[in-house]
Amino acid sequence: MAQVKLSAVRKAYGAVIAVHGVDLVIDDGELVVFLGPSGCGKSTTLRMIAGLETITSGTLHIGDRDVTALEPKDRNIAMVFQNYALYPHKTIRENLAFGLRMHKMDRAEIEKRVGEASSVLGLNELLDRKPRQLSGGQMQRVALGRALVREPEVFLLDEPLSNLDAKLRVKMREEIARLQKQVGTSMVYVTHDQVEAMTLADRIVIMKDGHVQQVGAPLEVYDRPANLFVAGFIGSPEMNLVEGRVVQGRFEAGEFSIDLPKGMTAEENSAISLGIRPEHIEIDDTASDIAFTADIIEQLGAQTLCAGTAQGVRLRVMTTRRDDVHRGSGFSLRFPANRLHFFNTETGNRISTEH
Ligand SMILES: Nc1ncnc2c1ncn2[C@@H]1O[C@H](COP(=O)(O)OP(=O)(O)OP(=O)(O)O)[C@@H](O)[C@H]1O
Ligand SMILES: [Mg+2]
Repeated sequence: MAQVKLSAVRKAYGAVIAVHGVDLVIDDGELVVFLGPSGCGKSTTLRMIAGLETITSGTLHIGDRDVTALEPKDRNIAMVFQNYALYPHKTIRENLAFGLRMHKMDRAEIEKRVGEASSVLGLNELLDRKPRQLSGGQMQRVALGRALVREPEVFLLDEPLSNLDAKLRVKMREEIARLQKQVGTSMVYVTHDQVEAMTLADRIVIMKDGHVQQVGAPLEVYDRPANLFVAGFIGSPEMNLVEGRVVQGRFEAGEFSIDLPKGMTAEENSAISLGIRPEHIEIDDTASDIAFTADIIEQLGAQTLCAGTAQGVRLRVMTTRRDDVHRGSGFSLRFPANRLHFFNTETGNRISTEH
């Protein structure tokens, strides 16, 4: 087990800069998720850690060792790919043992490790089958098992659940989280699914266009997104974001207007954006704060998502009310001050609202 340290790690493919320089320390035993939209550089960063891509500049340490220039096999990492890459003609037992045999490991030790991994992953009944005789979830577990038997210092997983159906994804997600805590090996996990990131990660690294946008625990990035991109990316349904201006200590967007928090400093007439999550807007029949008319109602079961207009601004509001919420329903909205986020519209950066 080991710490992984990236220092100004950069990747250029000719003129294309895929990763602009990542500084990150993944602590021993930590589960870090790289999250971001397609093409943001998640896989490239992971593959540089694995040694499958060269590092254009910067350094990579695993434990005390500078592994920047080492071959993948000398880095003591194990990678799980999206397509599993199992050997179709070998049994599950042979699939699990194959890498160890290639390393000329002692037969008894191989048996011990395969036995342990298959117990942890619930594969004991399947050891004599071939991959085609397994379900997607079972194959996924074998792929994990093959990484596990290596007893690496770091696990690297690139979208390992994307081939599975929604229900199985949730189950495997739980298994991966449990397994990682049980064996205590550092893990880097790549996904573009923010729910997966929120539920799995000790810390999330959010990337866009090859730049790290924010690093933080799931609730830190949810509560205090560092910029407009993170604000829009984390959370489902998305945060409401409204562009407006500072006018006499208030936020104004056309007819829509709301007091700015006391501690906030923003220049008169500067372009700022208000953010509030659908689940943080309160619906009230009596208060006469902001009149809202719903025009789209989505019943989600436990909650109702209402889309509509308030003083000319489109908003989505999540409520636990349901039977009295209809198309055309009018409500008053309250925006709790401690739930408001403000961003500089030009730079996208969060504006501090603390005193
Ligand atoms: N071999 C290559 N040559 C040139 N450009 C590349 C190469 N590999 C990747 N890129 C570019 O680098 C950028 C980052 O790619 P990467 O595969 O890391 O994205 P990603 O975040 O994993 O996306 P996805 O979610 O689609 O897998 C992309 O713009 C991609 O087109
Ligand atoms: Mg990728």
